[in-house]
Amino acid sequence: MSLGPSRLGILSLAVKGVGMHLLSVVGARPQFIKLAPVAAECDRSGVTHTIVHTGQHYDFNMSDVFFDELRIPTADRNLNIGSDSHGRQTARMLDSLEETLMDLQPDWVLAYGDTNSTLASAVAAVKLHIPLAHLEAGLRSFNRTMPEEHNRVLTDHAADLLLVPSKVALSNLHTEGLGDRSVHVGDVMVDVTLMVRKSLDDEELQAVTTEAGSNDFILATIHRAENTDDPERLREVIDGLASVDTTVLLPAHPRLRARAASAGITLAVGSIRVVEPLPYRSMIAAIVAAKGVVTDSGGLQKEAYVLGTPCTTLRTETEWSETLEGGWNVLVPDPRDLRIATEERGPLALRGMPYGAGNAAGVVLRTLADRG
Ligand code: UD1
Repeated sequence: MSLGPSRLGILSLAVKGVGMHLLSVVGARPQFIKLAPVAAECDRSGVTHTIVHTGQHYDFNMSDVFFDELRIPTADRNLNIGSDSHGRQTARMLDSLEETLMDLQPDWVLAYGDTNSTLASAVAAVKLHIPLAHLEAGLRSFNRTMPEEHNRVLTDHAADLLLVPSKVALSNLHTEGLGDRSVHVGDVMVDVTLMVRKSLDDEELQAVTTEAGSNDFILATIHRAENTDDPERLREVIDGLASVDTTVLLPAHPRLRARAASAGITLAVGSIRVVEPLPYRSMIAAIVAAKGVVTDSGGLQKEAYVLGTPCTTLRTETEWSETLEGGWNVLVPDPRDLRIATEERGPLALRGMPYGAGNAAGVVLRTLADRG
């Protein structure tokens, strides 16, 4: 029987990867999405995979629904840390993770993205001399007031292996003297986005249009501290969204709801239609069906780009600078400009594939097996 290159790739990983014990630490919504293709690839290639959930996100629709929909195995351990201030939340995770890692002694700890769960897993692993790999390494906003920027920089400098999603991220790591530890693997989030997009049916696309109450709608998400935590800024953001000419479907993150409630700001005003956070398939369906996206999320900017929906980003900078090329993503720091910014954009340039073609998880596991 002749073996094609992809079958050979799987076999060689199975040989090298067998016996490897990988431990993934996740805790927040975007990490569950990135975990899905890694877990599936471990299963395919016979790698022993332990999943540790810090419990940073704990609501059903912020956590369990992603495990169910993306068929991720239930976490082997849940540390049930929950919400707290940055320092206390990270410290409680670190305390619990140290014990977990001492107990399980994996060959690799895999840290995902830029949340407090990422930083806690990085510190726990390096202090125990357990090899640490950082997935989604090298992203920079160069905005040192963002909690995510602290988490990225500190995790990258702690890690033994930096798994990098884009050329821009790779060049950031070279600039910081971390080039020898870095491997450009592509973005595992693209693996999931493309796989889900392919399997969406008309009913799922129709369901989001029904939820929006219109065929002509903008999808919006807001959750970053810089947009939610100052009541004056939050009021401007909501006023800006309310002024948009078409319906704005707003799946409201718990942070947004909590901050709006304490500042006495009503979210369901003007064009805004507020709904619960969407499960992943519905989110992808909403991006495909929407005429545009308004967001401060990194993941959503990238998903919109990959799926070909114009995006408006309510921030002064983005870590995903490739999405700005060709006008697909536009930075709009002032919410008063939202109405104009979300109007039809002229013809947009052809998009490239700066984050890979949807096979990053396989490359990640081969790299871990090679370097293990
Ligand atoms: C975190 C990450 C952010 C990521 C985002 C995705 C950090 C510093 N930030 O931000 O990078 O983009 O997750 O969603 O790690 N809450 C609930 N239920 C939940 C989770 C949170 O009610 O299941 C509420 C709590 O009131 C909490 C607030 O949301 O205080 C914020 O949650 P937290 O996990 O601290 O940060 P996120 O804003 O979700």
